[in-house]
Amino acid sequence: MKPFWEEEYLNIKRSVFGKQSKEVEEIVPLLKKDARILDAGCGDGRHAAYLASLGFCVDAFDISENAVNKLKFIKEKDRLNINIWVCDMDDFEFMYEYDLIIVHGVLQYIAKEKQQGIIEKLKRYTAQGGYNIIAVFTDEEPIPDDLKDAMVGVFREGEIKKYYADWETVMFQSYKFNDEHENGLKHCHALNKIIAKK
Ligand SMILES: C[S@@+](CC[C@H](N)C(=O)[O-])C[C@H]1O[C@@H](n2cnc3c(N)ncnc32)[C@H](O)[C@@H]1O
Repeated sequence: MKPFWEEEYLNIKRSVFGKQSKEVEEIVPLLKKDARILDAGCGDGRHAAYLASLGFCVDAFDISENAVNKLKFIKEKDRLNINIWVCDMDDFEFMYEYDLIIVHGVLQYIAKEKQQGIIEKLKRYTAQGGYNIIAVFTDEEPIPDDLKDAMVGVFREGEIKKYYADWETVMFQSYKFNDEHENGLKHCHALNKIIAKK
């Protein structure tokens, strides 16, 4: 079963995951004007488009062609400075270091055995003094039925913190929230969010 967002990315009128997250707004004053930013697994671009609208140059990729096509449309419409392409996070080859890497709500869709290697690569290609913003679903709540096929790498509570133990933790949050997909399925998610500084 395809995850619900594939169909929803076809609707260009509405951002599937709403507005940019608060922590992405909060990091902005900490960034230099010419900061290099990567939004990996960008979806329809709520973070990439927000940061580009503030004047940053943003690289963004997603495995979903529907997501990338939608963000390309938004880029043209709003004349945003975003480089967008289709890519699997597991195959992504870094060309340079970034001052900020955002991976928001993505890593739980990647197989457990690949996660550590991917996170190590994100960390290696973050500039000294740069930031990673990572949000992951944890196993403190059951996986909703419509995401059972996709959510193959759910995190344990606090696990993401351990990957960043050698960086400064600027912010860590653990909380639950109620959600309802367009298909009407009501459920609860447990989330860990970290802002870590190299
Ligand atoms: C829940 S959405 C979050 C989108 C966006 N980060 C946001 O916060 O609005 C998860 C996204 O991860 C993407 N994704 C899942 N596995 C991926 C992979 N291996 N490589 C790149 N993107 C992936 C999906 O296509 C989807 O767009």
